[in-house]
Amino acid sequence: MTIQIHDLRFVPLIEEADVRLRVEAMGKELQEKLGDKNPLFISILSGAFVFAADLFRAFESPCEIGFVKLASYAGTRSTGEVQTVMGLSKNLEGRHLVVVEDIIDTGRTLHYFLEHLQAQKPASVTTITFLRKPDALEFPVQVDMVGFDIENKFVVGYGLDYDDIGRNIKGIYVLETN
Ligand code: IMP
Ligand code: MG
Repeated sequence: MTIQIHDLRFVPLIEEADVRLRVEAMGKELQEKLGDKNPLFISILSGAFVFAADLFRAFESPCEIGFVKLASYAGTRSTGEVQTVMGLSKNLEGRHLVVVEDIIDTGRTLHYFLEHLQAQKPASVTTITFLRKPDALEFPVQVDMVGFDIENKFVVGYGLDYDDIGRNIKGIYVLETN
């Protein structure tokens, strides 16, 4: 089944059921690692909010969540700059942080953000992304958990948008080629 968003057509890439299974498995892994640490999840808005909500609820021990807004994309292309549009109000010193990202493309957003976090002396930083495009990577980023590695193509769904549309699609859809 193809879907149309604005001027572009998208075809299925990852089914909703596979998304759910993978996110539950990631939540369990995180639980084993940080179950007794009262971790602070940091969700990067807007794209990661859907994944973060599911991952957060797959974690069964006490934990907290906060949100930051960073922006580097306009339409289907990276603008080459990362802006902090909204920051965190919590003190991060000594905290176990879980950085939750929707997708790592060039790595620019996370590279910039992780540097900013390390300066605030957290006890640990665990970095998790739902999707990663290994062929698009330009900035070094240490990632601890990846949901799925995908081809270097534009995708929507599960929080990811094309000019603000598509975030509520339950699976992942990829730009149709030809
Ligand atoms: P990076 O800084 O180049 O790694 O880009 C990361 C951000 O760009 C993500 O948090 C997304 O918001 C956005 N992005 C990258 N690739 C895609 C895509 O295929 N679809 C939708 N948004 C994307
Ligand atoms: Mg986006």
